[in-house]
Amino acid sequence: MDKNELLKQAEAAAERAYAPYSHFRVGAALLCADGSVVTGCNVENRSFGLTICAERNAVAKALSLGKSEFVTIAVSCPDSQVPVPPCGACRQVLSEFVGEHFEVHFRGNSRETRTVEMGGLLPYDSLVDLKDRLRRE
Ligand code: THU
Repeated sequence: MDKNELLKQAEAAAERAYAPYSHFRVGAALLCADGSVVTGCNVENRSFGLTICAERNAVAKALSLGKSEFVTIAVSCPDSQVPVPPCGACRQVLSEFVGEHFEVHFRGNSRETRTVEMGGLLPYDSLVDLKDRLRRE
């Protein structure tokens, strides 16, 4: 699957965002190892703190469908002029399931697209030993 197609799916997911407070819609499209794409959008809450980001929504949705191996993710923010990468919390959650070379594609509402590897978004990943240990068990 080509990254532009994945970004298109992220853009479509952003249209389904529930973002009445920030008016900042975000969509994510997670390409799974079985070739399927699981999308997510941000879901805000009037408590603010309970807001769910698009990326974590996609990860939780994929896990609940029995998919936990991911190839790449695309994030689209139609309300931003600049490309928006996953927030810190989403970087941490994504890193639970992907390696340092996992590619993250992101864009705003311009044609500019950026691609950064997980290791660039979350350097000096803490607890990486624990993750490796769990994988070996
Ligand atoms: N948001 C995401 O969905 N993903 C990110 O990585 C950045 C932030 C959402 C959360 C909130 O609904 C809105 O964008 C403004 O922060």
